[in-house]
Amino acid sequence: MANSDSSTDPSISYDDDSSRRDVILIGAAALAAIGGAAVLWPLLDQMNPDASTLSLASIDVDLAPVEEGQAITVMWRGKPIFIRHRTAQEIKDAEDVKLDQLIDPLARNANLADTAPATDANRAAPDKEPWLVMIGICTHLGCIPKGQSIGDYKGEFGGWFCPCHGSQYDTAGRVRIGPAPENMYIPPYAFSSDTKIKIG
Ligand code: FES
Repeated sequence: MANSDSSTDPSISYDDDSSRRDVILIGAAALAAIGGAAVLWPLLDQMNPDASTLSLASIDVDLAPVEEGQAITVMWRGKPIFIRHRTAQEIKDAEDVKLDQLIDPLARNANLADTAPATDANRAAPDKEPWLVMIGICTHLGCIPKGQSIGDYKGEFGGWFCPCHGSQYDTAGRVRIGPAPENMYIPPYAFSSDTKIKIG
């Protein structure tokens, strides 16, 4: 199910905090994911297709329309995938964090070893550090954190804020204030061209 032209894909939303260019295309599924910040994920997950169907699913996402400072959310296997085109400042903020400042020192990156440390390089796309691709589900009890939409409060670390119990994530998606115990997870993905990724 390729999204070769994501600008017309109704499951993708575009947010731009810097210019507030309001290109927001939100399908019903994405709206449930993005807007349902107070909804526990397992409730939504019950409506998903069975695992045997989902296990084959992968999606292609065209990142070309996503400018620096913008974020989009796509759905993959029934889960919201947060994709942020980070600014230079957001990258620097994440790189400046020492591992001993982190609640969870592991990268939680499906593309790396389980023991990989949670450096910014191990969280960001390989050789494309402006891009952060992760499963947008809080690791506490499964709420959908805020930080993707225009005007969202992103927490004191500039990443994402989970309104359910106050967890905060930095610009690499690493939990900095609990009760969430782990960083948000990085799904399996790879760049298939300079501007396209395949998730799954
Ligand atoms: Fe996110 Fe509890 S579900 S802080």
